[in-house]
Amino acid sequence: MTRLPRTKPEIPTPALLVDLDRLERNLHRLAEHCRANGVSFRPHAKTHKCPNVARLQIAAGAVGISVATVFEAEAMVQAGIRGVLLTSPLAEPHKVDRMVDLVRGGSEVLIAVGHAMEVDMLAAASSDLGPSALNVLIDLDVGDRRTGVQPGDEAVTLAQQIATKKSLRLRGVQAYAGHASHVVGFAERAMASQAALALAVDAKQLLKQKGFEADILSCGSTGTWNIDSRFAGVTELQCGSYVFMDIDYRRIGGSDNAPLFVDFEHSLTVLSTVISAGHADRVTVDAGIKAFSTETPFRAEAVDQPHLVYTRTGDEFGIITLGGPGALPKLGDRLEFLPPHCDPTVHLYDQLYAMRGEQVEAIWPIRARREN
Ligand SMILES: Cc1ncc(COP(=O)(O)O)c(C=O)c1O
Repeated sequence: MTRLPRTKPEIPTPALLVDLDRLERNLHRLAEHCRANGVSFRPHAKTHKCPNVARLQIAAGAVGISVATVFEAEAMVQAGIRGVLLTSPLAEPHKVDRMVDLVRGGSEVLIAVGHAMEVDMLAAASSDLGPSALNVLIDLDVGDRRTGVQPGDEAVTLAQQIATKKSLRLRGVQAYAGHASHVVGFAERAMASQAALALAVDAKQLLKQKGFEADILSCGSTGTWNIDSRFAGVTELQCGSYVFMDIDYRRIGGSDNAPLFVDFEHSLTVLSTVISAGHADRVTVDAGIKAFSTETPFRAEAVDQPHLVYTRTGDEFGIITLGGPGALPKLGDRLEFLPPHCDPTVHLYDQLYAMRGEQVEAIWPIRARREN
């Protein structure tokens, strides 16, 4: 039997690593900020898909965990996480059944519903449950044009439909503003997010005026964490990437005109090995398309080695060249990279090495990794 790696040099590559000191600082930063601003947080597990990280978020004070897929919901519930919120709409009967089964099994879950068909399906699947057994939010489209109904009449119509279903209980609204989260420049990002949130707060008020229960407004992202937390009417944040950070987020700029967004630390890296060094101008590492997300225009960056330029060349390989003064690494050397985009990078791995400095403190399964 192979012995589990105990130190960084023993880890077989390519491998996904999380620096626990940095992760813990990120967790506490958001938690303390939320406490200070009187807002709850239900961080998004689509980033880490890892119950171990979710448990740390709950321990830091999260009221629950947001998830993007039914499988993520099941994995989190199985790991004992309470207050799981499914943020994506459903249109397949078997997935509706699986969510209802979680409630039937005694789990406390919330579902953000985005259309009338989903309300009908959820009500039909849960008709044998008691009154108000299934907690739902209305998913609002506040400018992202991805999912949800329009704030205003469409939201009221959906609320009226929900009210006719005995087993459903409306708890509030969800208003994810993905079009605001990565806007470059703090002032511009604040404007985009506040415009979206104003629509959500108005919608929530309208629902209340019409006599519906609408206490929750769940929204927010890493890029707007300190904007949305101060917006009156917001009750909880759904930040996801803040635990790990990535190059895509770093470029959006911080408050006070800071050129980089460094509110949270880069805790996630991909460890690789130089596996070929037969050319004077380049070496090859064992981390290519299967080791990093490839959809952003940004390249992976070698940690603490800014003179090295990474270019991915294929499924298993990356090429390292010189972009400034310094030497190329040697055959067998280890290189650690910041990923361009954290969520889809995590999705490529089965496990996460939880590192305390050079020591492997734990190996965490990325248990909620399946697509569906
Ligand atoms: C519904 C929802 N909420 C929250 C988030 C978290 O966003 P971020 O990773 O930018 O913090 C996402 C990300 O796509 C999302 O889709």
